Amino acid sequence: MVDTVTHSEASGGGRPLAAWFEAARQRRLKGIHTPWDFRSSAKRALPRMVFDYIDGGAGSEIAIRMNREAIDSVRLVPSAPRDVSFCDTSVTLFGQELSLPVIIGPTGLASASWPRGEIALAEAAARTGIPYVMPNAASVSPEDVARAGEGRAWFQLYPPPDRELTRKWVARIRDCGFSALEVTIDVAVPGQRLRDAYNGFVMPFRWTPGKFLDVAARPVWAMKMLYHGQPTPYLQVERDGSRATASNQSENRRHRFTRALSWDLLKILRDEWHGPLLVKGLLDPRQAGQALAAGYDGIVISNHGGRQLDGSVSPIEMLPEFRSEVGGRIPLLIDGGFRSGVDVVKAVALGASAVQLGRVGVFALATAGRAGVEHALTLFRAEIETAMALCGVTRLEQLDEHSVRHNWGGPRP
Ligand SMILES: Cc1cc2nc3c(=O)[nH]c(=O)nc-3n(C[C@H](O)[C@H](O)[C@H](O)COP(=O)(O)O)c2cc1C
Repeated sequence: MVDTVTHSEASGGGRPLAAWFEAARQRRLKGIHTPWDFRSSAKRALPRMVFDYIDGGAGSEIAIRMNREAIDSVRLVPSAPRDVSFCDTSVTLFGQELSLPVIIGPTGLASASWPRGEIALAEAAARTGIPYVMPNAASVSPEDVARAGEGRAWFQLYPPPDRELTRKWVARIRDCGFSALEVTIDVAVPGQRLRDAYNGFVMPFRWTPGKFLDVAARPVWAMKMLYHGQPTPYLQVERDGSRATASNQSENRRHRFTRALSWDLLKILRDEWHGPLLVKGLLDPRQAGQALAAGYDGIVISNHGGRQLDGSVSPIEMLPEFRSEVGGRIPLLIDGGFRSGVDVVKAVALGASAVQLGRVGVFALATAGRAGVEHALTLFRAEIETAMALCGVTRLEQLDEHSVRHNWGGPRP
């Protein structure tokens, strides 16, 4: 039965059961009119502990709320009359044309939302003409994701603790055909995820009566997971060639995060990787110069979607300062709280080349697999085009500081 779900995704169906699943999926998508609608549908599809793992953040989740408030506080300046018969949403990044200034960012454990979720995300991104960033903590092989991404997929790496491991992973990522490497630096220690703690959604995973009831309340999800097996982090499992088990998951976690990170360590990745290299997780504009000096080709301004330091500044409010520091020398990407095409247009006006999507992509995935993610991206495109037209621009580079108003303060003198 669950196999049929996956089969219909790959082949377009044909069998009665596949047709029934397809019709059910289309019905679900019909009620989705803006990308953030996927949050409610994902909540209905997923066990609470999985939904909370995706939706939640660090501590009291102030950073999540402030990410939204900061985006909401930016206002766009409409401009008319202009001829906006055709609005071009494309952007060129590292020599590659993206159909939208949007990238599907790295989200670990996507396969807990949809079987082989990373493949579905990569396929949806490739069909839309944008990159998908495969996370270090994925449950499928990088070879399969790179193939699904049709040359557009990027890879996200938590810097491994030793050079030998770095060399080994980077060589593999290169051989797979990933077109860019993103190094996440904001996880020196894991953030305090209270929802996961309250739900007992921690590694090593242990069944309790409460968790059993939670899963039993979502039988379709449970059947999919039963059929495809519990997702396990692929690359860390590969590290010692053994299958992940409850007991070695916590060891995996220790190996995943490098507590003593430095620009010297980050330079090693520059030596090993010769394609576009980005650093993800900067929020202090003074570090932009260090990224440049270390040979990095791009910066993703990010607070990890409010999942690391609660109460941290919001990426969008730091964007203007990064723009002044970098002065157009390398592209600036951003994530954290972006849910609509209007949000994306605000970020572009403030100096971002593209926005990375986090939760919204996973919620679309959990709702309807690849079809859900493609639908979300179609909605983003329509909303970006509408916002561009109403701002009186036909190309993204026409958006600039005159297109927005905000009242954030800079650092105190
Ligand atoms: C469920 C989930 C898993 C994530 N896993 C990773 C990861 O493995 N590596 C990484 O660099 N960022 C990870 N992130 C952070 C996202 O890449 C991104 O920074 C963040 O989600 C953006 O905020 P948003 O969800 O509000 O859009 C994860 C985020 C979520 C929601």
